[in-house]
Formats: sequence, C-alpha cells, structure tokens
Amino acid sequence: MSDLVPERSASGHSAAAPDRAAAAARIELERLWEQGTRFLGTRHAILGGAMSWVSERNLVSAISNAGGFGVIACGAMGPDLLAKEIAATRALTDKPFGVNLITMHPQLGDLIRVCIEHQVGHVVLAGGIPPGAAVRAIKDGGAKVVAFAPALVLAKRLARTGADALVIEGAEAGGHIGPVSLTVLAQEILPHIRDVPVFVAGGLGRGDAILGMLEMGAAGAQLGTRFAASAESIAHPRFKQAFIQASARDAMPSVQLDERFPVIPVRGLVNDGTRRFLVHQGETLRRFQSGELSKEAAQLEIEHFWAGALRRAVIDGDVDGGSVMAGQSVGMVSSIQPIPEIIAELVEQAVQVLAARAARYGA
Ligand SMILES: Cc1cc2nc3c(=O)[nH]c(=O)nc-3n(C[C@H](O)[C@H](O)[C@H](O)COP(=O)(O)O)c2cc1C
Repeated sequence: MSDLVPERSASGHSAAAPDRAAAAARIELERLWEQGTRFLGTRHAILGGAMSWVSERNLVSAISNAGGFGVIACGAMGPDLLAKEIAATRALTDKPFGVNLITMHPQLGDLIRVCIEHQVGHVVLAGGIPPGAAVRAIKDGGAKVVAFAPALVLAKRLARTGADALVIEGAEAGGHIGPVSLTVLAQEILPHIRDVPVFVAGGLGRGDAILGMLEMGAAGAQLGTRFAASAESIAHPRFKQAFIQASARDAMPSVQLDERFPVIPVRGLVNDGTRRFLVHQGETLRRFQSGELSKEAAQLEIEHFWAGALRRAVIDGDVDGGSVMAGQSVGMVSSIQPIPEIIAELVEQAVQVLAARAARYGA
C-alpha cells in the first residue's frame, strides 16, 4: 500500500526506514487531529456527514466501526422512527456515533428528547442557526452540540452561545449548500476559532487535502459523497453507478430562474429532473404572470417539484428524474469501496505526505 520512500534512500537509510517514517507520520497525524478525535471519541477525526435516506444504521455503524464518526440523518423521521434507528445502529456498533437533526423539523423538541433518552453523545443541528432552546436542551441532557457555521461572525456567536463544535461546509459539498467555497471559509474561520473544534466539509475526497486543512487548524473532516457510494451504503446500485460515472463538473447547484421565487441551492448531478425543474419554473412563472397563481401558490409549486425526489433517487434508483445529491468530490469516486478501505485510504494518503516530507527535510 505504501510507496513512502525508496528502500534505501540516497542518505543511506536502511530498509526499516520507511516503516519508521510511516510510524512517525502516523503519530504526527494523531497529534494534528487530536482535538477532533478527543471530541468525537474516535480513532480518526473523520465524520460521515449525515445524508438523508443514506445515513442509516448500516452506513453509520460501518463508519464508526472503521474508526470514523457516523451520523444518522434524521431528516423527516418522527420520534418513534428515530428511536428505532438509534437502537438499531447501537446494535451494530459499540463505537460513538451522532444524530443530525434539521432545526425546522416540527417535532425538534421531541427528537432531542429521543436522542437524550438513547444517550446519543453528539447531536448535529443542521438547516439554519440552531434555536437557543434546542442547544440548551441538548446540553442539559448531557450531549454535545455540533452546529454549522456559514460565516465567521456566526461561528463566533455559535461558539459563544453553547455550540461544542462547528462544521464549516463549503459550496463544493453535496446537498444543500451555501455560497462560499471551503477554501475561503477555512481561511476566514479557522485562524479565529480556537476554543471549539472546527470540522471542515465540502469537496474533500483525499487524505492529503484533509491534511492540508488540519495544518490550517481544522480539527477533522466531514465527508459525504465518497461514503454515499460505499459498499455499505444502502443507496440503489444505479445511484452508486451514477457517482462512479460522474465527474466534478456534473455536480451542479440547482438553478433559480427568477429572484422573486427563491430556490434553495442544492448540489447534485445534472439530469433530466434538473432540466425539467427549469421548465417547471418557467411554466409556474407564466401562470403567476397571467394571474392564474398567487405569489404564494407559485412559490409552493416550485418548492413541491422536488418533494420525495431524493428518496426516489437513493432508494428507487430513479437517477434520471430524482434528486441525485452529490458534491464535486464525486469526481474522486471511481469504484464502490468498503468503508474501512475508504477510511484507511484517506488516512494513508495523509500519512504518506507527512512521511515523504520528513524524508525530504529530516524528521
Ligand atoms: C446525498 C446527500 C444527502 C445529504 N443530506 C444531508 C442532510 O440530510 N443533512 C445534512 O446536514 N447534510 C446533508 N448532506 C451533506 C453531507 O452531510 C456532507 O456535509 C457533505 O456531503 C460533505 O461534502 P462532500 O459531499 O463534498 O463530501 C448530504 C449530502 C449528500 C451527498
């Protein structure tokens, strides 16, 4: 697996030198992401980002069993279903995992209660700035709060008001996205947030890129796209095949036709559905302009277009009409790999960079 340095280097290192270099590099990596591993209680500071319909017991437990941190996507599940999913995940792993809750879920309070009752250690709050009451309820229940920070001012505020860790997610990511790339968010936020761990997400597909972020001050990395196409993912074979065939440029944000009718940007593979969405917006606009639809009704028409579309793609395999959410890192998915192999590969890529650097400049 390792092509760290030649068996005998110009400086006369023995054949054991590569092993020693790799061992030293592993220790260095452990030091670099120690804030993250300590916070998560894991071997590696690699989170499996929650993905609706994809991040269920099988994927989540596989990630946690491989030394990463799996996160259940609650999505639209109600409290009973979530309780079942947590229990089923715990039956598959004795390692830590988290639960991702969407803040606008109408039963957010009940879902938090379920997490606390099931002693989930980490609750990730997604879909907007988390309400103070939700943050307090999670912390009072003894769990840690992870929140998404889309800008430095909000990162500072979230850290001040109780978030125990932050995720900064660049526009390269799959699913719902903000407007700013991870490269820029990392530079804006990482140097200024030291009190809580900051995990980076969006466009990460290799261990050397993760290493770069750790060296900039990240505590760890969150990946979604690579894990969605893993062997353990329950996504339909056609969904995974679409990932294997796609390149980075196929994963595009949804397009908004008219600023009066906002479309939440979602990154996914361009397909017949994304093309029909443009036509649908055009027709809806015409019906609004002719007076056939009120503004509210037109907005609802546009929003309803994608209802159930992610499930259709992930579970039913409708990759032509469904919503095939994927990040730009989809270009780095070239086969269906088991989770332990993906995680080992990411770690090894980071270790190789560190070992090669030590060989070049001296440990
Ligand atoms: C198919 C898919 C579904 C997703 N669903 C969710 C979700 O329900 N909640 C959430 O917070 N993030 C969601 N995400 C974002 C991931 O958790 C993760 O942050 C993102 O995939 C990281 O970037 P990457 O795709 O470049 O690896 C989703 C991503 C994908 C690809």
